[in-house]
Amino acid sequence: LGVYVHVPFCSVRCGYCDFNTYTATELGGGGEQAAYADQAILEISMAAQALKGRLVETVFFGGGTPTLLPAADLVRILTAIDEEIGLAPDAEVTTEANPDSVSATDLLELRTGGFNRISIGMQSAAQHVLRVLERTHDPARVPHAVAWAREAGFEQVSLDLIYGAMGESQQDWRATLQAALACEPDHLSAYSLIVESGTRLARQIRQGLITAPDEDDLADKYLIAEELLTNAGFHWYEISNWARAKDSECRHNQLYWHSDDWWGVGPGAHSHLADRRWWNVKHPSTYARKLAAGEQPVEGEEVLTDEMKALETVMLGIRLSEGLPTETLDTHKLADLQARGLVQTHPDLPGRTVLTLPGRLLGDAIARELV
Ligand SMILES: C[S@@+](CC[C@H](N)C(=O)[O-])C[C@H]1O[C@@H](n2cnc3c(N)ncnc32)[C@H](O)[C@@H]1O
Ligand code: SF4
Repeated sequence: LGVYVHVPFCSVRCGYCDFNTYTATELGGGGEQAAYADQAILEISMAAQALKGRLVETVFFGGGTPTLLPAADLVRILTAIDEEIGLAPDAEVTTEANPDSVSATDLLELRTGGFNRISIGMQSAAQHVLRVLERTHDPARVPHAVAWAREAGFEQVSLDLIYGAMGESQQDWRATLQAALACEPDHLSAYSLIVESGTRLARQIRQGLITAPDEDDLADKYLIAEELLTNAGFHWYEISNWARAKDSECRHNQLYWHSDDWWGVGPGAHSHLADRRWWNVKHPSTYARKLAAGEQPVEGEEVLTDEMKALETVMLGIRLSEGLPTETLDTHKLADLQARGLVQTHPDLPGRTVLTLPGRLLGDAIARELV
C-alpha cells in the first residue's frame, strides 16, 4: 500500500507542464496554500477508515511543488499518515523538490520529520535549455541542493531530467548528464519532452516560435543517456528510470507499475484499491469545500474489468527491466517483435520477455502491438 500526496501549487507554471497545479495568482491569493495541510489531513482521516489494519509501505509527495509548502506542513501531513493509517518501519518517504524552493534548513526539517528520499527537478544543466522550458532556477543551485540533502541525512537522492527541448544539442545533453552524475545521485529519471495539448509550449510550436522535439533526436539522446548512465554504474529498471543499486529503485513508482494499491490525497489525485479506481475533484477550492462539508472529495470512479487489468499489466509491465511473463503474451506477435529485434527472452529471469535496447526506444508502440 502506498500513499500519494498531491501538492497543487507552483510559483510559476513551466510552459510545457499540464499537471494539476496552480499559481497564487491563478488562485487569487495564497490562502489555499496556508490551509492545505489541514485539508489533506482531513482526507487522510477518511482514508484511515477505509484502510483499517494496513501499513503504508511508501509515501510520495508530488506536485506541483511540494516544497512550496513550509516543511512543517509536509511533516504534519506525514505524521498524520503515520498516526491515522500507520507507516511501515522501513517505509520509503519521498518528496519532489524544485531547486529554487528548497533550503538546507527545510531539508533538515524534512529529514528529521521522517522523509528519507528526495527527487529534485534539475531538468537541464544548460541555461538556454532551462529558458526554453521556462524553468526559473539557476542550474548552479542543484549541486548545493543535493549536498544539503546529504548533509541532512537523506539516504536516497534522485534527479529529474528532461531532454529534447529546442536548441539542446547532443553535447548539451551529455553535459547535463555529466553534471547530474557529478552530484552523485542514487537515482535518475530522464524524460523526453512531451508536447501536451493546451500548454504554452504547444501554442508556441503552433505559432512557429518554437520547434517541436524531433523523434530521431530524442532517440539519439535516449541512447546517450543509456551509455553514460551505464558507464557510471547505473542500471535501467524502467524505460525512463535508472538506479545506482537495486535498493535505490523507487519503490513507490514500482507500486504503480505493478498496479498495487495506493491512496491519492489532494486535488485531482487518483487512487486505486483492489478493483476500484477513483479520482478527486481537481480544483483546490472545490476540494476544500467538499472536505469542509464532511464529503469525500471524489469526482469520479470506475471498476476495473479483467480486460482493463490485463491491458494495464502489459502497458506498464513491458516498460520494466523485469519484463512480462512470456506465457501471457501472444505467440505470433511475440515472434514478430523478436524477429524485428525489439524484444528478447530475459537473459536473467527464465520465462520472461523484456525489451531490447532498440525496443526501449519504441516502448509505447510495442505495448500497443502486444495488447
Ligand atoms: C511534478 S514535477 C516534479 C516537481 C517539480 N514541480 C519540478 O518540476 O521540478 C514531475 C516531473 O515531470 C516532468 N514533466 C512535467 N511535464 C512534462 C512534459 N510535458 N514532458 C516531460 N516531462 C514533464 C517535470 O519536469 C518534472 O521533472
Ligand atoms: S514542471 Fe514542476 S514546477 Fe513546472 S509547472 Fe509543472 S509541476 Fe510546476
